[in-house]
Amino acid sequence: MAIRIDGKLVSSKIREEVKGEVSKLTDKGIKPALAVILVGNDPASAVYVRNKQKACLETGIEPHQITLPEETEERELLDIIDKLNRDDDIHGILVQLPLPKHISSERVIEAISPKKDVDAFSHDSVGRIMEGKYSFLPCTPAGVMELLAHYNVEVEGKECVVIGRSNIVGKPMAMLLLNKSATVTICHSKTKNLPEVCKRADIIVCAVGKAEFLTADMVKPGAVVIDVGINRNSEGKLVGDVKFDEVEPIASMITPVPGGVGPMTIAMLLKNTVTSAKGT
Ligand code: GUN
Repeated sequence: MAIRIDGKLVSSKIREEVKGEVSKLTDKGIKPALAVILVGNDPASAVYVRNKQKACLETGIEPHQITLPEETEERELLDIIDKLNRDDDIHGILVQLPLPKHISSERVIEAISPKKDVDAFSHDSVGRIMEGKYSFLPCTPAGVMELLAHYNVEVEGKECVVIGRSNIVGKPMAMLLLNKSATVTICHSKTKNLPEVCKRADIIVCAVGKAEFLTADMVKPGAVVIDVGINRNSEGKLVGDVKFDEVEPIASMITPVPGGVGPMTIAMLLKNTVTSAKGT
């Protein structure tokens, strides 16, 4: 039976470290602050933003919550970002996605100063990740790397399969694994013989956004299985991208959903904010 990777435990350790760093910075007169911008009425986004705000407060980071109505014009949002970019008391800027359709996410993300891009979504941040010269790592893939490191999972030389090619998770995830000298394959909806490719993997990161997509026949016995998905199955239960009950008996380690990768994302966001504050 696989070891269950405990994201709650690892994330609370990171939050404690962040708390310590925040306290040191505060003693030096620097109060780490994160601006979180929410535009519109997406209920899931509102929950995410509330959780980010709560996590900031728990670690001593000052949350600057900016809530804007659905009909906000792109220009208004860009002006707000411009002000935050020039405000020395703000160390991180995060615009919750998705944005309303009339606003270009790309223009908005590109408007955030690379020095404050704690989500690491901008072209500058992505380019840096490609070259392994980053200040901020994208939160979810960075959280996965932390989990692997905490559980002493060797990455160098390993066959890693990342399922999903999103800009937020799949692509940067592959790059972080590659930067640690893994042999990386990225799979997606057009991949042929997906089960066979997955079965080669020592480490599988599943980020497809489909409930219980990865089944036991796709997993090599002893593989490490990381589940980035959060979905509701047909009975309304919260499940990952991995068919957990089936895969757990054959994997060597596995992340549960909830309580695996999920808690790591916000922890890494806090870490990025402190990294930014340290640079001021
Ligand atoms: N929407 C869903 N996930 C994220 C995230 O990690 N950052 C932002 N800004 N928006 C999101």
